Amino acid sequence: MEHQKLTAFPDDFLWGSASAAYQVEGAWQEGGKGESVWDRFVRIPGKTFKGTNGDLAVDHYHRYKEDIALMKEQGLKTYRFSVAWTRIFPNGRGEINQEGLAFYMDLIDELIKHDIEPMLTLYHWDLPQALQDEYQGWESRQIIEDFTNYAKTLFEAFRGKVHYWVSLNEQNIFTSLGYLLAVHPPGVTDPKRMYQVNHIANLANAAVINAFHEMDMPGKIGPSFAYTPNYPIDSDPKNILAAENAEDLMAHYWMDVYMWGKYPIAAMKFLEEQGWAPTIEEGDEELLASAKPDFLGINYYQTATNAFNPLDGVGAGKMNTTGKKGSSEETGVPGMYKKVENPFVERTNWDWEIDPEGLRIALRRITSRYRIPVLITENGLGEYDKLTEDKKIHDDYRINYLESHVKAIKEAISDGAEVLGYCTWSYTDLLSWLNGYQKRYGFVYVDQDETQEGSLDRYKKDSYYWYQQVIRENGANI
Ligand code: NOJ
Repeated sequence: MEHQKLTAFPDDFLWGSASAAYQVEGAWQEGGKGESVWDRFVRIPGKTFKGTNGDLAVDHYHRYKEDIALMKEQGLKTYRFSVAWTRIFPNGRGEINQEGLAFYMDLIDELIKHDIEPMLTLYHWDLPQALQDEYQGWESRQIIEDFTNYAKTLFEAFRGKVHYWVSLNEQNIFTSLGYLLAVHPPGVTDPKRMYQVNHIANLANAAVINAFHEMDMPGKIGPSFAYTPNYPIDSDPKNILAAENAEDLMAHYWMDVYMWGKYPIAAMKFLEEQGWAPTIEEGDEELLASAKPDFLGINYYQTATNAFNPLDGVGAGKMNTTGKKGSSEETGVPGMYKKVENPFVERTNWDWEIDPEGLRIALRRITSRYRIPVLITENGLGEYDKLTEDKKIHDDYRINYLESHVKAIKEAISDGAEVLGYCTWSYTDLLSWLNGYQKRYGFVYVDQDETQEGSLDRYKKDSYYWYQQVIRENGANI
């Protein structure tokens, strides 16, 4: 496969970039917007780096025209953004806030005017606080109806204008960080509740996908999954089994449900033994199996490497399955796997692995297992960037990172994967949920830091021009 001739990117390949409402918009109390769980959570002392929050963010709410003009100049084909549920329904349900709807209508029209395909995420974590207060948000089945109603409102409003819809962003992350590691709202550490919330989110996702198809919406819909492919540390069969356990519990546990409506057997057996399995009611399995996404969205950042973990091994007495690096604490699930360092890959300054080959592997695995088109809804490098005196950002490290990942996509397409598009994370710099503005991802630098008093001026990084050329050539020279 090393000498294969690479297939060209399809003519209609969606070269894009992404953002999320809470991380860019700001204007947290404008336009009739209601309070979200993030608006509340960031006000708890110690939750975020230096108390940073999205009150102002990068003020995309007021500057979206300037941002879209930059996208146009760059040649972007699609822009992925999310709608803040609280702008449409300030209390999560009830009367529509027309001003909120009008904001997104203007944003979408502006994109279309500039020949940029809008890609809309329905849920990127900013749940209306009112629903959290009223019935504990994702812990209640009432959310299935409310989320579907919210989604249908957007389907009706933007029918024919938006052709790419993402249902839930990184369900695996918002459930794990919110209900297991307690670092996202609602700050809970309880595996039983986490798996129950996750099951309800699966039902809500399925209901919304079905509604989209029942309404005969022109376009495609699918969830975005944070896929971290699992490797074994070596060829010891015990370690290979550990990697399979990790893949089952951390990846198939979500993707199989999206694609087939079924939980993987080994993972479910493990959860049952722990007393953590979700309560599956009559009709749930039918609903899950009836919903067929049109694509699978993948947010790809890194891979994870695994080794055998005995029952009394790493993680005994607690549940920490994220495998996220960056802390000295080892993570793992006793009897299943433990996370170990991969000696073959480099790491970023944030200790995330840099593994472009892993993206090719991810695309091949998904293609073979599910036979579904993939949309890469996020991929990118979070780094400290330096604005030079002459207002330049020489981010060759980001160019190298993105280029190697685009090459991996091209190789995966040559292997037979159907890839609809590639959205980098992120378009402009934006607020990191927990890390403020130290960690930057954008093509466009924004003068904003943890003091939240920057000029908010935008500056094009070197990577902006690099991507402009990639788009112009449709990836021909990668
Ligand atoms: C995934 C999330 O969707 C996004 O909101 C976040 O900022 C990036 N990954 C980077 O961690």
